[in-house]
Amino acid sequence: MHRKWQGRCEACGAWNALVEEVPLSAGPRPAPGRGRQIALSTLATDEPPPPRARSGMAELDRVLGGGLVPASAILVGGDPGIGKSTLLLQATAAFAGAGLDCLYVSGEEAAAQVRLRAQRLGLARAPVRLAAETGLRDILTTLDAERPDLVVIDSIQTMWLDSIESAPGSVAQLRAVAHELVTFAKRRGVSVVLVGHVTKDGQIAGPRVVEHMVDCVLYFEGERGHQFRILRAVKNRFGPADEIGVFEMTGQGLAEVANPSALFLSERGRPAPGSVVFAGIEGTRPMLTEIQALVAPSSLAMPRRTVLGLDSGRLSTVMAVLEARCGIGFAGQDVFLNVAGGMRVHEPAADLAVAAALLSARDDVALPPELVVFGEISLSGALRPVSQRENRLKEAGKLGFTAAMLPAGGRAAQGADTVPGVVLREQADLAGFVTAILGATGAG
Ligand code: TYD
Ligand code: MG
Repeated sequence: MHRKWQGRCEACGAWNALVEEVPLSAGPRPAPGRGRQIALSTLATDEPPPPRARSGMAELDRVLGGGLVPASAILVGGDPGIGKSTLLLQATAAFAGAGLDCLYVSGEEAAAQVRLRAQRLGLARAPVRLAAETGLRDILTTLDAERPDLVVIDSIQTMWLDSIESAPGSVAQLRAVAHELVTFAKRRGVSVVLVGHVTKDGQIAGPRVVEHMVDCVLYFEGERGHQFRILRAVKNRFGPADEIGVFEMTGQGLAEVANPSALFLSERGRPAPGSVVFAGIEGTRPMLTEIQALVAPSSLAMPRRTVLGLDSGRLSTVMAVLEARCGIGFAGQDVFLNVAGGMRVHEPAADLAVAAALLSARDDVALPPELVVFGEISLSGALRPVSQRENRLKEAGKLGFTAAMLPAGGRAAQGADTVPGVVLREQADLAGFVTAILGATGAG
């Protein structure tokens, strides 16, 4: 309870996190037994799966779980400037082209600005209806009258409801606006896409508070300096989460990348110390990425551990296991780790590739260019087989890699596991792997 307006939460120190809660009226409580009895049903159903509308953008349709489900609510989050408006204008035009009645509401840009962008994207003639508006009351009235199949709200932070006192972008507004739009989607059978900015530090006014209200949460990721963009499903009530779509930001908007492995490896120059190709899985697809490490003498009392595109906790773990089980330490040395191309890797299967990159960087010798690495490292120093081993190997073979270092075991039940042209070098534990890697670099 706070007696006056307060900008900062005393408990967690966050700004603008406090929301006014009006207590329910203190009238007589309904007695139990006064409610309506709910009709119960069973889990069995004859209903067909929901029909889906495909945009024709394969990368987008896959991330949605096979297309857009009618009356679904989707949140697309991402850093400011990463390309959300571009993506959604293109997606809206694609859905419109596929026969959907689409409406694009911009609260950030004037209609003329959106038209200019559409022109630049070659979409000036797409049958998309456009509004530049931030008042949700008017937007809902319009939607109710127009009943489109799909509406994009760009962005939810700019929208406001007159019944809420706080400013647009505040938690109270965000929550109320999202609630109104999601309820509208369900009631009127209109698919709603909400665009939300996330802030790098506190996501206080970011779309986090909205995540549990929607059916599907997509994040649009990428590094500003790189042209690659990843659309990642982190929640999907109608399809697999973890699915990703890969795009490239060009002068004419976002282009789909059908073969991401080739793209992510295209920047690879001559074999360099610290560079390792990791055979990963993203959603349902195998994907090769380059992991780079740099190990350099440090002048700091607390040497630097800088990670980009990977979980920093994983780096600490891999380094700790290398030290404890193999006696390989990094004391007095700065360690930098990076996934090339602005890709983010979440799989534990990257452990082994991280270890290989660290070893190669530490000894300043390059690994053979035809090698891919994957596998999980357990705290005991044992190597754990990972899922979809054959798919990873196949992708590696397809891209011309001829050798793979991986944990022993985990072979498919049929014992097939023969990917022509890829020689398997299996290891049961980290010590064996270290010897093999140092042997491969010729440093051992
Ligand atoms: P935008 O979609 O406005 O980002 P967001 O809505 O996430 O804030 O994209 C902004 C960036 O994209 C801007 O820096 C310019 C770049 N861009 C291109 O490179 N090519 C294009 O065709 C367009 C439309 C934008
Ligand atoms: Mg935008």
